Amino acid sequence: MKGLILSGGKGTRLYPLTFTSAKQLIPVANMPVLFRVIQTIRDAGIVDIGIVIGDTGAEIRNAVGDGSAWGVRITYIPQEAPLGLAHAVKISQPFLGDDKFVMFLGDNVIQGGIHALIRQFDGSRYNSQIVLTRVKEAQHYGVAVLRPDGSIERLVEKPKVPPSDLALVGIYMFDASVFKAVNAIQPSARGELEITDAIQWLVTAGYSVFPYIHKGWWVDTGKPIDMLEANSLVLDELTPAILGSIDAESTVDSRVTIGAGAQIINSVVRGPTIIGENTRIVNSYVGPFTSIHHDCVVENAEIERSIVLEHARIADVPARIQDSLIGRRATITRATSRPAAYKLTLGDYSAVGLV
Ligand code: TTP
Repeated sequence: MKGLILSGGKGTRLYPLTFTSAKQLIPVANMPVLFRVIQTIRDAGIVDIGIVIGDTGAEIRNAVGDGSAWGVRITYIPQEAPLGLAHAVKISQPFLGDDKFVMFLGDNVIQGGIHALIRQFDGSRYNSQIVLTRVKEAQHYGVAVLRPDGSIERLVEKPKVPPSDLALVGIYMFDASVFKAVNAIQPSARGELEITDAIQWLVTAGYSVFPYIHKGWWVDTGKPIDMLEANSLVLDELTPAILGSIDAESTVDSRVTIGAGAQIINSVVRGPTIIGENTRIVNSYVGPFTSIHHDCVVENAEIERSIVLEHARIADVPARIQDSLIGRRATITRATSRPAAYKLTLGDYSAVGLV
């Protein structure tokens, strides 16, 4: 089997962080979501992986390279524009050939890996298997209706009245019959070749399409709130390790990971939390579910349930920072000169919540 990761797209809902960089490279528990996806596919025994890339392709190539860091072979598949998930499959045919493959959205995080579902599909005679999970508010998702024999009867995109609580997770398995589907369907009203239309085409044409019901958590990191949710879930499962230094005046929980060269000085760090390499936490409080990446400074500040990217600096902030996503090299400091006012230099589409 082969792997196909979709890592093109625009990531508009994560502006401004994704204005200049790929959303799949935003870290969750200090590791880019895309790296977690590659690891998950590798751990399921797949070594031939194609990555569909768009405008941010150069950055992705630079970060992932040839895949040897994970022991896999990466083939890059440039997509001229984000014309839909089924379009991404269509342009990947030369790479995929006649092999069965698993397609994974490059911005999704899943609990427990995909080993079991890969094994099931590989040993089956199904033409396609779609990963589904039970959700509370199914009207926000693509939803599947099953037949009495357990196969998929139909898919409905964001139904007002959901016909079931089984939502599509961003993981799909196909054999080469999917190319007939992606070549037969037409773009949707939003101008994209929809993967749900391709799957529906397979069902209608009589191919066997079955679900795989995933039991653990799964997060599509499309919006900032989803990034924080994924961060919390991954941190909760991290095996802690202390490689940096903690001074005698600091209190650090048992569920905290501290990277090499990081320093915790006169501070309180509550887990689950991760502090990246060479980051300094001084006279501060770092609360649970926080990921602070490498080479950051947090000084005279309090932060909790947040993601801070590399080289950011947070100093002398009077109120606690919470539920925040702070970009690379961002600085948040207290202004010392009059007038006593908020002085902001924010990128386009930034969001600040003041009290
Ligand atoms: P989406 O989240 O559906 O789209 P997006 O990345 O453009 O985000 P936004 O809605 O915030 O603008 O994409 C899911 C994943 O699939 C994501 O990793 C990007 C990737 N993708 C492609 O590679 N090609 C495509 O044509 C599309 C639509 C998405």
